[in-house]
Amino acid sequence: MQAAVGQEMVLRMDQTLRRWLPDAQHKLAACWLDAPHELAGGAGCGISLAALDRALAGLDLAEILPAALARAVRKRQLSFLAGRLCAERALAELGYSNGAVGRTESGVPQWPDGLVGSITHHGEAAYAVAAFASGYAALGIDSERLARPSAAQSIRSLCCTEREIQAWLGPRDDTVAETLIFSAKEAGYKAIYPLLGRFVDFSEFEVQALDWQAGRLTLAPTEKSGLLGRMRPFRVRFRCAGAEVHTIVSERGSLFVA
Ligand SMILES: CC(C)(COP(=O)(O)OP(=O)(O)OC[C@H]1O[C@@H](n2cnc3c(N)ncnc32)[C@H](O)[C@@H]1OP(=O)(O)O)[C@@H](O)C(=O)NCCC(=O)NCCS
Repeated sequence: MQAAVGQEMVLRMDQTLRRWLPDAQHKLAACWLDAPHELAGGAGCGISLAALDRALAGLDLAEILPAALARAVRKRQLSFLAGRLCAERALAELGYSNGAVGRTESGVPQWPDGLVGSITHHGEAAYAVAAFASGYAALGIDSERLARPSAAQSIRSLCCTEREIQAWLGPRDDTVAETLIFSAKEAGYKAIYPLLGRFVDFSEFEVQALDWQAGRLTLAPTEKSGLLGRMRPFRVRFRCAGAEVHTIVSERGSLFVA
């Protein structure tokens, strides 16, 4: 089965891989990771990129990936492939063993009818979740490695509002708070992009409440978004695990104010 989106045809990655590597399933067995993003009624998993690289050593990934990825560096090819393999596995867990995830020309994943999902990757792993669209009005995930101090400074200036800097940054002497705000906004962006259909700047949403103990925060539209009174604040759940920060937006009800 294949998904057609715009000019892009995205094949089922696991099937395509098996055509080139008949024992792919066996090799992939060592690559899977548990899903760090909890999603009630949904499915998710991860892949170690180093393990996938070892498993596919010698295979030219340009042969199996969509044209847009053919000239990408191997690291990017691996992260794309890993994200799709996770997405297909999550879909299979929901009973869609023939589900392919398409891709628009601008890189937005296109899930099979009736399903929603989200993909993320950082330098070491890729993750994906999927669920029935009837259960979730907005779904987005993100995973980040903890920012280095130099990158944390960039996050402050590029991704945080003045109010966020005052309210949430400072008490911790590590970079978790900066990484978390960045990750929460990325997950939020993936969740609301399908609803708004436009780019959303980091200054258009703001962390309004942050509960470190419960692993929850709220993202609310700012005046700059033009969404005040039209879109309600929504929750981001998070987990800080070792050097990784994982965030998920999984809203069941509509984000739009009636
Ligand atoms: C699109 C974006 C969120 C991706 O985040 P990232 O940290 O660079 O990368 P991640 O690995 O976490 O996620 C990449 C995956 O997101 C998915 N994705 C890309 N664009 C997307 C979109 N518009 N909506 C939903 N998912 C999208 C893709 O599956 C992609 O993986 P793939 O290309 O391998 O299929 C980011 O590049 C971006 O444009 N951010 C600016 C906008 C923003 O975050 N604003 C904050 C508003 S609150």
